[in-house]
Amino acid sequence: MDAFRIHGGARLSGRIAIDGSKNASLPLMAAALLTDQPITLRGVPDLADIRNMSGLLGELGVDVQGDHGTITLLSCDDGSTHARYEMVRTMRAGICVLGPMLARRGRASVAMPGGCVFGERPVDLHLRGLEALGARIELRSGDIFAEADRLVGATIFLGGPFGSTVLGTANVMSAATLATGRTVIESAACEPEIADLAELLNAMGARISGAGTPRITIDGVDELGGADHTVMPDRIVASTYALAAAITNGDVTLNDFPYDNLLSVIDRLTALGVHVERLDPTEDPKRCAVQVTTQRVLRPVMITTQPYPGYPTDVQAQMMALLCLTEGNSIITEKIYPERFGHVAELSRMGARLFRQGPTVMIQGVTRLVGAPVMASDLRGSACLVLAGLAAEGTTTVSRVYHLDRGYSRMEETLNALGARIERFNADAPEEQAVPMPARVVEVVA
Ligand code: EPU
Repeated sequence: MDAFRIHGGARLSGRIAIDGSKNASLPLMAAALLTDQPITLRGVPDLADIRNMSGLLGELGVDVQGDHGTITLLSCDDGSTHARYEMVRTMRAGICVLGPMLARRGRASVAMPGGCVFGERPVDLHLRGLEALGARIELRSGDIFAEADRLVGATIFLGGPFGSTVLGTANVMSAATLATGRTVIESAACEPEIADLAELLNAMGARISGAGTPRITIDGVDELGGADHTVMPDRIVASTYALAAAITNGDVTLNDFPYDNLLSVIDRLTALGVHVERLDPTEDPKRCAVQVTTQRVLRPVMITTQPYPGYPTDVQAQMMALLCLTEGNSIITEKIYPERFGHVAELSRMGARLFRQGPTVMIQGVTRLVGAPVMASDLRGSACLVLAGLAAEGTTTVSRVYHLDRGYSRMEETLNALGARIERFNADAPEEQAVPMPARVVEVVA
């Protein structure tokens, strides 16, 4: 298994561009199941999760040309309607094929995804929404089996104990495009990835309004056609690299930064003493260049994760790494996944002073972190440990970077292009051999 060896202490500087969003791309790819016409997606990131989704769609009769950048998907309705456990297990987002497949083919079965390291992660709201559209749903040998002659529009409340559901909203909204009559989703997820999906669906001929707000209205149509769509920039990757700049006291320019979709993160960074400046106010605020710089002493802050437009849970772990090095006590409360704290024990091994009680962690700032061998068991927790390693004294080894590869395209190359010193190596090799990778530089300014 690959691992990273990080030599800490380098100050990052230069310019990189933010890739297209993973979490937007996955339901966008699943939308190809709603039509027999080609769907072209541009700016799809080069990630393990995208390849897994292509593999899953391939099994469902979708021909996928290309694996990143510009990809074209063409669905044939004669394909299998069964998303197997082996495919969904590696990538929970596989659940987002359920709504599109059911709406167009009249039946679908998808393996129940199961829990993950940061909690139970149920799909009851997805199923409740599809049932409200008239689907008959049952659980058969661990698979969700759904059937309907034709879905019928309805008013559906999609709120749950932790807010709405992002992929549940994607599933129900996608399915409702081919239902008869009008569907209203109340308490819909407002995440920008939902608005991006609605943009594609409307380009395919759907009639959706209100996506990006808590009430989405969908007037069903008889069929959808092909479309060409550019994926929105990845707001979680953008936040992670902004935090990498901040934790190294760097000076980094990020192109294609989704500024307007990150106001909650920018608000907390500003409170800390990190400056995120737009370089050209005439550029599209959803895809613009920003410069990230940091004042010498960072102030502590309080952060509560919330559904969009609140502070994202997917940037909680990375922010914790930075808060370890502020002057004073910060508090993070996790309201989406109260168990998403696998990184806490690992940061403590690097000298962080963290005190957790249930969904809340108090972070007592320290003046330095010290390199150590660490391991995270999820994607964003791994990103947190890489950030901590960049700032730590000495060498940090982060194992199991396959978690990172799910959501960051060759992260070590991107950071090395900014001046970091990270080697990827095979931790299982008898004589551990570090393999320095060639830098993938968009443009290095300094
Ligand atoms: N929930 C329910 N019932 C459901 C669905 C969700 O109670 O039927 C709860 C969840 O347990 C959680 C909350 O609702 O407490 C929100 O979950 P949601 O369904 O919105 O999560 P998701 O759609 O499965 C997406 C992202 C996650 C991100 C969450 C929250 C994708 C592929 N995944 O998951 O991203 O954390 O929204 O914003 O879009 C990541 O990228 O690292 C990641 C985990």
